[in-house]
Amino acid sequence: MEQDGQPNEHGDILTQYERFINPGLARALRFMGLTEVEYSGHGAVVVTEAGEEYIDCAGGYGVFIAGYLHPRIVARARDQISKIALSSRVLLNRPMVELAQELARLTPGDLQYSFFCNSGTEAVEAALKFSRIQTGRSRIISTSGAFHGKTFGALSVSGRDTYRQPFTPLVPEVVHVPYGDSDALAAVIDDKTAAVIVEPIQGEGGIMVPPDSYLPNIRELCDKTGALWIADEVQTGLGRTGRLFAVEYSGVVPDYLCLAKALGGGIMPIGAVIGRPDAWTFFDSQPLIHTSTFGGNPLACAVAHETLHVITEENLPQRAAKLGAWFLAALSELQARYPRVLTAVRGRGLMIGLEVPQPGVGGAIMAELFQRHILAVYTLNNERVIRLIPPLVITQDQLQQVLTALDDVFGIVDTQVEDLVQG
Ligand SMILES: Cc1ncc(COP(=O)(O)O)c(C=O)c1O
Repeated sequence: MEQDGQPNEHGDILTQYERFINPGLARALRFMGLTEVEYSGHGAVVVTEAGEEYIDCAGGYGVFIAGYLHPRIVARARDQISKIALSSRVLLNRPMVELAQELARLTPGDLQYSFFCNSGTEAVEAALKFSRIQTGRSRIISTSGAFHGKTFGALSVSGRDTYRQPFTPLVPEVVHVPYGDSDALAAVIDDKTAAVIVEPIQGEGGIMVPPDSYLPNIRELCDKTGALWIADEVQTGLGRTGRLFAVEYSGVVPDYLCLAKALGGGIMPIGAVIGRPDAWTFFDSQPLIHTSTFGGNPLACAVAHETLHVITEENLPQRAAKLGAWFLAALSELQARYPRVLTAVRGRGLMIGLEVPQPGVGGAIMAELFQRHILAVYTLNNERVIRLIPPLVITQDQLQQVLTALDDVFGIVDTQVEDLVQG
């Protein structure tokens, strides 16, 4: 057994990654100097085996909305695990139905029914299948740059060829239109369309905020044609953007809303699709048409329920709105000072993207930030954007430390920017 980061008979931990996990990933991590081993965490800080603390602006790709090991969520997990963790799937499951009731209460409009699974991609798979069976249609419209997961259905509606191409043929009858462009959607949506799947703000696409009219237009076009709207809030959901759900900014209600990531409170994997009654009638005659053995397990549901209480009682969406506005303004000032390094700053709440002229510039920035004990990662479908999605419990003081570090790093990278862009 390896202890305290010490090598065992298989070498250091990256060598073990190389031998037992993924050689290519191990090489990339070594190249980027990412050799520290995570051990624990508290609030917005992750602690390594060596006892070093890092401010986490990558937030586990968005799962740590309530921070690492929130005491109330951990306590609820301990309590539930001491009773029943996984479901018999024959007897009735109280934590699951309590979570579903709370989601029906908190989600906008008449979203009411929940299906539970274990990840974001599974939530998307379920919503795609639901839209097909509910409408009896097969066509799905998605957007360029979208990220919905990496299983076949979710990959088919995602928008980056690098991840799609090696797995073709994908699910047929999927059409991609430019994100944020209502006219492009209007040109392709018709009475054969089962669903339009859209993130309220594209996360992995590069933190793309659409025009205010976009989501209302999607709603209207879906209503006109009888298509269903799937809002993928796997990344934007549960307070990240300054509202509990990002669709709330638009005042319109999707037919299906997908959640995952933050719903598990930074403790458990869980995904969910919440649907309107009119989009859920297919279950009436076929209650087992879509199922998941682990989905809705009492442990994950108890944790998710407590997470919803923590998010609402600690006013985390409001906190994200307030801190985010301040942080975004300060980042825009940095952009004005370092326009060659930082070409755009955008986002909403604590979902912020820093656009750089070229991925190499982003790589240099992330490496320098890491040296200063700050974690940040680029968005998966757009390597020119570094995403900052810290836990919403992050303090203003910690965000100030991030700003100070960025100021320092931009100053250094500014002197290298020509070489980086050419190289
Ligand atoms: C908007 C969105 N949908 C779906 C997913 C897939 O989630 P998972 O990685 O849990 O399958 C992600 C992951 O980043 C996401 O950002």
